[in-house]
Amino acid sequence: MQKLDATTPRILVSQPVFDDVLARLRQRFTVTDNQAGTPWSSETWVQQLQGHDGAFTFGVERIDAAVLAQCPQLRICANMTVGYNNFDVDAMTAAGVLATNAPDVLTETTADFGFALLLATARRVCEGERFLRAGQWQRWRYDMLAGSDVHGTTLGIIGMGRIGQAIARRAAFGFGMQVLYHNRSRLPADTEAALGARWVDKATLLAQSDHVMLVVPYSPQTHHLIGAAELAQMKPSATLVNIARGGVVDDAALAQALVDGRIAAAGLDVFEGEPAVHPALLQAPNAVLTPHIASASLPTRRAMANLAADNLIAFFSGQRAPTALNPQIQA
Ligand code: DGY
Repeated sequence: MQKLDATTPRILVSQPVFDDVLARLRQRFTVTDNQAGTPWSSETWVQQLQGHDGAFTFGVERIDAAVLAQCPQLRICANMTVGYNNFDVDAMTAAGVLATNAPDVLTETTADFGFALLLATARRVCEGERFLRAGQWQRWRYDMLAGSDVHGTTLGIIGMGRIGQAIARRAAFGFGMQVLYHNRSRLPADTEAALGARWVDKATLLAQSDHVMLVVPYSPQTHHLIGAAELAQMKPSATLVNIARGGVVDDAALAQALVDGRIAAAGLDVFEGEPAVHPALLQAPNAVLTPHIASASLPTRRAMANLAADNLIAFFSGQRAPTALNPQIQA
């Protein structure tokens, strides 16, 4: 345990986290925690951040030029999430503040969940459970809760980063699916071959896929990437799965498409304005809804938290943070 004194870096941990990860931080830093999970408004967040040299964040705390101007002492923000749309990385770089995220450690767990949601949605697992618990199951019937197949069908993946690729492997080699993908940049031919995936434009992907899975980061360019026009291009029998970010899908348009039977079903782990969920989605029986838990296995969440701690510890020890988003800050 290092001796802590007035020169010890002060770290704010803005939400509850594993006690052992907090203990790691306390060995090196003066830590302000929020283990009670008190919700902070954006104003309270900034007030709490003031006077801290570093922040351990959870992918939702806004860091932009206005916040940075009020927190001149801040030198690093470490998200324990892979997504970092809470950071204005350009503003952080301009202010000399390091931004880090937590990639890789959650890839396989998140891909597992993408498949869980796809299977639950296509095979109507949650509808079946609600039906049974409500005492509505009287007898076996040939078409009772009959859904769509997953094996042997065509999966369209939008966003082919690490998680998209892990999903492609499961689809091609686990479920014998044909895999189409759309991404800004095309993968090298040998990577495509190894994944069993073929690049197509977005319109072709939407028209030809039996299931569409979204795995793109949120940005102004991906805002409402799927709206009414795109839903109209999908097969009426298709399912849509969103494990990317709220805002990538126009939730109001999706709810309408589900009500109208424009597509068969949707599996959604993320929502516009979450934790609020569009009321029409809550009413749609053909929507499987989960509360942003795609990376939520205990070992993976612990690995994500430890990676954020590793970034803080490395940075304040004068070493390179392992997963920096603006590594030039450390040059
Ligand atoms: C991530 O790591 O970005 C997951 O979505 C959890 O927020």
